[in-house]
Amino acid sequence: MNLNQRIEDWLQQTRTRFADSPAASQRPFVTLCYAQSLDGSLTNRAGEKLQLSSVASTRITHQLRSLHDGIMVGIGTVLSDDPQLTVREWSGPSPQPIVLDSQLRMPAAARLCMSSGKRCWVLTSQQSDAVVRDYELLTVAGTQAGQVDLAAALRLLHQRGIRSLMVEGGASVITALLQNRLVDALVMTVAPLMIGGYKAVGELGLSSQQPFPSLAPIHSEKLGDDLIVWGALNFAAGEA
Ligand SMILES: NC(=O)c1ccc[n+]([C@@H]2O[C@H](COP(=O)([O-])OP(=O)(O)OC[C@H]3O[C@@H](n4cnc5c(N)ncnc54)[C@H](OP(=O)(O)O)[C@@H]3O)[C@@H](O)[C@H]2O)c1
Repeated sequence: MNLNQRIEDWLQQTRTRFADSPAASQRPFVTLCYAQSLDGSLTNRAGEKLQLSSVASTRITHQLRSLHDGIMVGIGTVLSDDPQLTVREWSGPSPQPIVLDSQLRMPAAARLCMSSGKRCWVLTSQQSDAVVRDYELLTVAGTQAGQVDLAAALRLLHQRGIRSLMVEGGASVITALLQNRLVDALVMTVAPLMIGGYKAVGELGLSSQQPFPSLAPIHSEKLGDDLIVWGALNFAAGEA
């Protein structure tokens, strides 16, 4: 069985298990998907775009996009990369684009607003009467720090019909989702580079007595010079 089929089958099985859990009635299944260097860097410096995935690894990302209802990034990624987040290197529908943007910094000219044929959803914690033509503004509860409350955001996405959500970064969003234990699966491309740059995962605030989030079982396969690593995320020791 080729790698694309293996990952698709695994995703289907992992999602079926999630569908039987109590969380499934509250929020979408969440898959983290990103590329990092051997030392865990997403890019050289925060706010700079760096292409880490090969053409073949990018196809896996596009395949995964086609298998999710929604795709979400933080506003930091929109401002630095201006991604389209559409399915171009695979066949299948593009997911609903979604941006976490507490302070309403979303540029109207962002490619996300015009690429997929679906009106982008911008999740904010600000009450705003602004009339926006280029995207749909969705207000949810904010955290004490004024950012979008992720659990509330995922509940709203579920109410809007999003049952599976792919999250492509960046580091602040990846870290916040892990801190809130709101990740079910991870598909990571590891590029054979040492960058010493901006790390994918920041402080999770765990002590060494606590279980660290783990992939169990872990899967991996070489794809050209890249390594693809994937698995279900477990937050409690002994979970599998
Ligand atoms: N290698 C890869 O696969 C990959 C993928 C994606 C991005 N990147 C790189 O990563 C960098 C961007 O990462 P980043 O960390 O700067 O930005 P980010 O994670 O894309 O976005 C972070 C921003 O999202 C907003 N946000 C709203 N609610 C949040 C919440 N609950 N938790 C966390 N953030 C929330 C915050 O801004 P407000 O408070 O203003 O809302 C926050 O500053 C870029 O250099 C990009 O090129 C690499």
